[in-house]
Amino acid sequence: MLLYTSGTGNTEWVATELGRLLDEPPFDIAKEIGCCGQITYRPNEGRLILVFPVHSWGPALLVDRFLAGARFENIREVWAVMTCGDMCCNADKILAGMLERNGHYTIDGCFSVQMPNNYILMKGFGLDAPEVAQSKLLAAPQRVRQIAQCIAERRAAPELYIRGDHPALKSFVYRLFRRYVAGSTKFKVDEDRCVGCERCAKVCPTQNITIADHLPEWGDDCLQCSACIHRCPEQAIEWGRITREAGRYHHPSIRV
Ligand SMILES: Cc1cc2nc3c(=O)[nH]c(=O)nc-3n(C[C@H](O)[C@H](O)[C@H](O)COP(=O)(O)O)c2cc1C
Ligand code: SF4
Ligand code: SF4
Repeated sequence: MLLYTSGTGNTEWVATELGRLLDEPPFDIAKEIGCCGQITYRPNEGRLILVFPVHSWGPALLVDRFLAGARFENIREVWAVMTCGDMCCNADKILAGMLERNGHYTIDGCFSVQMPNNYILMKGFGLDAPEVAQSKLLAAPQRVRQIAQCIAERRAAPELYIRGDHPALKSFVYRLFRRYVAGSTKFKVDEDRCVGCERCAKVCPTQNITIADHLPEWGDDCLQCSACIHRCPEQAIEWGRITREAGRYHHPSIRV
């Protein structure tokens, strides 16, 4: 069973490729959470593959929320595949803690795929230069093939996980991100640009956006996946002043 979450399509693309190579249909965690309270999964092959983006050097917060409400039976192997702009730091260890809380599962292997960076919500961060983004997109298929082969052969390959520098310090920032950043939102809509298409509300994994008088309004359950701001076809959404000059990104294989 292959479960994924994705804000701007990088991870969706990786999950789809991986699913094709391993003959595992990908399921979107956001839709799984939406359907009911606690869900029990019993994968046929006893194999669980979690595919998600790294946010603030830890697993995307939707993964934790999903794991808290999911139960697994008959799991014999667990694999994690993360996408990141640069590095994952100790996201593997943080995930291990989440899984342990959930049912004492241990992870057989963690892998990462560098993809174009989509983090634009803080000063000093921004999209990759076009040539950098392009080179990551070109390298990704080979990386996913290597990862699929490792999973098929039940082989961990630490060299296929990019930890990066100062992992403990950076993953400490994840705890701050979790506690203080997620939930709040500075999103604002430019009323002159918005065409009321409701795309932002549809792509939000937590249903945090409601449409009133054809305009989006944000609640306080934002996980900062950044789907809404990147996938608005009119570029009508801003995060304070920070994103006025920033570009927008989505993986070329998905529609905005
Ligand atoms: C809130 C947020 C935090 C991020 N933090 C990191 C990070 O700590 N390290 C990193 O390499 N990339 C980071 N990124 C970049 C994403 O992990 C990367 O672009 C990922 O492939 C996006 O996947 P998606 O398109 O499936 O949403 C962050 C992105 C967001 C939105
Ligand atoms: S996606 Fe953009 S244009 Fe569509 S409703 Fe949301 S803000 Fe408006
Ligand atoms: S409000 Fe936007 S950034 Fe926050 S969870 Fe929803 S789509 Fe993601």
